[in-house]
Amino acid sequence: MSAREPKVVFERVSKTFPKKKEVLQVLQDIDLSVAEGEFVCLLGPSGCGKSTLLNIAGGFEEPTSGTVRIDGQLVDGPNARRVFVFQEYGIFPWASVWDNVVLGVRHRPRSEQHEIAQGVIDLVGLTGFEKAYPMELSGGMKQRVEVARALAVSPDVIYMDEPFGALDSLTRLTMRAELIRIWNTRKPTVLFVTHDVDEAIQIAERIVVFSARPGRVAGVVDVPLEHPRDLSSHAYADIKRELYGLLGVVQAV
Ligand SMILES: Nc1ncnc2c1ncn2[C@@H]1O[C@H](COP(=O)(O)OP(=O)(O)OP(=O)(O)O)[C@@H](O)[C@H]1O
Ligand SMILES: [Mg+2]
Repeated sequence: MSAREPKVVFERVSKTFPKKKEVLQVLQDIDLSVAEGEFVCLLGPSGCGKSTLLNIAGGFEEPTSGTVRIDGQLVDGPNARRVFVFQEYGIFPWASVWDNVVLGVRHRPRSEQHEIAQGVIDLVGLTGFEKAYPMELSGGMKQRVEVARALAVSPDVIYMDEPFGALDSLTRLTMRAELIRIWNTRKPTVLFVTHDVDEAIQIAERIVVFSARPGRVAGVVDVPLEHPRDLSSHAYADIKRELYGLLGVVQAV
């Protein structure tokens, strides 16, 4: 893993927000390097600054101090070609599956647009639904459209902020497996925010655990388990225990 190039590098990133006469310290001295093609989960309690960190990494917020670089270049504003921000309700309700995917690559030559769109629609398992509109799709299928949209633009990095939060638990499991299958074929760099410990262990190569606000890196845990992961294995339980320890949560259920 160390042979991989660093893709996204956070250096001493801190963020405060003004709050009445005081300031709210949300993130403190975040140092983190994400490798090219790596799948990293950011795990932490609600309010610890995970979304804020993704917003900074996407150029939507400025850090109070510190820097974020992608391929060595300073992030100083949003850039749709470099970063795809996966949104829970990001697809256009008025456009078909096909158009939702093609919209992201409309600057490319027409012949290429077709090839790209069909390729990613097939990859996410929506073949035959090209003409369907979002209202005709289930929640999981809408998420597949969003994944297809992300892959179509071949961004350097994909940011996902609790993307499967609104899905039922069975569909979430399926989507996690699907996301990993798809990630394995294209290997984009993914930063995936979650506060679900199991979700993080099921999908990530590496989990960065944040402390409660102000968010600091409490620890980094590798998940060296093959996919599909055996959720009842000792190795899985050991990682879960380690994560709960870092989160300061007593696991007694
Ligand atoms: N634009 C803003 N102005 C002021 N305060 C903000 C702003 N954005 C976020 N905050 C505050 O920063 C803190 C961290 O918010 P953030 O959304 O990053 O947390 P989070 O870790 O993503 O939480 P959750 O898991 O609940 O989504 C919160 O206390 C929030 O109120
Ligand atoms: Mg959040």
